Amino acid sequence: MNRNIVCIGAGYIGGPTMAVIAKMNPDRKVMVVDINAERIAAWNSEDYSLPIYEPGLVDVVKEVRGRNLFFSTDIEGAVKECDIIFVGVNTPTKMFGRGAGRASDLQYWEATAREIKRFAECDKIVVEKSTLPVRTAAAMEAILNGERIPRAKRVAQGDALAGVGSGISFTVLSNPEFLAEGTAIKDLLEPDRVLIGGPQTDAGAKAIQAVVDIYATWVPQERILTTNVWSAELTKLAANAFLAQRVSSINAIAGLCEATGADVDEVARVIGADGRIGPKFLKAGPGFGGSCFKKDVLNLVYLCESFGLHTAAEYWMGVIRMNQHQQERIVSRLFAAMFNTLANKKIALFGFAFKADTGDTRETPAGTVARLLAEEHVRVTITDPKALVNARRDLADLSDVTYEEDEYKAAEGADAVILMTDWRHYPTLDWNRIYDSMRKPALVFDTRNCLAAAELRKIGFRVLNVGK
Ligand code: NAD
Ligand code: UDX
Repeated sequence: MNRNIVCIGAGYIGGPTMAVIAKMNPDRKVMVVDINAERIAAWNSEDYSLPIYEPGLVDVVKEVRGRNLFFSTDIEGAVKECDIIFVGVNTPTKMFGRGAGRASDLQYWEATAREIKRFAECDKIVVEKSTLPVRTAAAMEAILNGERIPRAKRVAQGDALAGVGSGISFTVLSNPEFLAEGTAIKDLLEPDRVLIGGPQTDAGAKAIQAVVDIYATWVPQERILTTNVWSAELTKLAANAFLAQRVSSINAIAGLCEATGADVDEVARVIGADGRIGPKFLKAGPGFGGSCFKKDVLNLVYLCESFGLHTAAEYWMGVIRMNQHQQERIVSRLFAAMFNTLANKKIALFGFAFKADTGDTRETPAGTVARLLAEEHVRVTITDPKALVNARRDLADLSDVTYEEDEYKAAEGADAVILMTDWRHYPTLDWNRIYDSMRKPALVFDTRNCLAAAELRKIGFRVLNVGK
């Protein structure tokens, strides 16, 4: 077994993860391959205009690209060259047929498994990096190890297709990724834990050790946790569901704060001071976005339903419902504060990315709010330091939306600014200048509670917050 590594899928997970693995394993050749030639070209671009924005990523890529990290569309060549194959392809929510709107769409993962099988010429360790429903590894095993015909017979039959019934053995592991966007490089360099699940067999134990060796070059042993495959697959869904549930829980409390005069940030600070609860993921806001939380909770709901656990399914579905309600509530409160009519008013959305420090707009609450405003015939202007390209693409079907890089221009003549993403520089903008250029009465709805509300009121703004 050689030490080369390939990752199939050069997205938000494949690119950063493999860049850090290459950095910390200079003696290994690491390849990242994808069917999307444009994406690979961006990873290889001379000026490092990488396909995703992630703080610190460019520096790592500069260090390792061309040294021991290589991006390519040659999936066949990479599979032949590497004995450890990570699969980091997308697993979006399925939008058709059985399980539509809930289950994971596994077509990309299955296509990848079939490719691996077609191209492999010797035994391989296949590592699930994508987030997958529990028991996917069993399906993968069936595809990869099915129809095994001894090599001698295959040669006798003149079968030139390596991997097809070739007697080659594939061991499937689960190594879910816990990085968060915006902090991916830090999360990869200093992970809370690395999880590797594998079959409880001799071959499984060897394969687990081979993957442990990759991480052990920089992750302390006690942070590398090994389990059986099913636990690893389920843990990833459960971990995201727990985090999403905390955000929905604090947002549920936020509504009650607004109705009663309590302050959600004060409530969260005190709840979080309890060591059993802890302070993280208790920030009320516009609801969670991103490619993972909604998809993974829906997947958990689907799994619960499939196993007849309907009450558990309902419980997790509540996390999603609460999240959708949060964006509807923001627009309802704005509607009431703006004299029950929004038609023809200009509203500037400050921030479109689902969180700060990323250009990713998948499932962003700002997208939902923009659409709800468009339904009210609002003239929406969107500004964001990193996400305008994606915003334009996401809202291409809306005609009355404009895009503006400069925050001051975005706010000119607006009746309201809604702060949707907690970009670090927003509190430091010249809010006097913004106020002067807006139509009066000028309103700021700070859905992230990151601006100095008292200062804004002194300037003359009407201010709305979440949970206050
Ligand atoms: P992504 O869409 O950014 O990247 C996936 C890539 O896979 C795309 O570039 C696509 O072209 C490629 N691909 C699809 N089918 C292929 C095939 N047959 N052969 C080669 N390439 C193929 O997705 P992502 O955000 O990187 O997520 C990937 C997986 O990682 C998902 O399962 C996701 O749930 C999981 N994950 C993502 C994050 C995150 O922060 N984005 C965090 C943890 C886990
Ligand atoms: C998440 C998980 O954190 C990560 O472990 C997993 O690998 C992928 O999914 P990500 O979606 O990139 O990461 O970002 P995260 O920081 O978790 O934020 C998700 C959403 O929740 C964002 O929209 C964020 O603004 C929101 N959020 C987070 C809150 O509204 N309040 C909080 O207290 C924390």
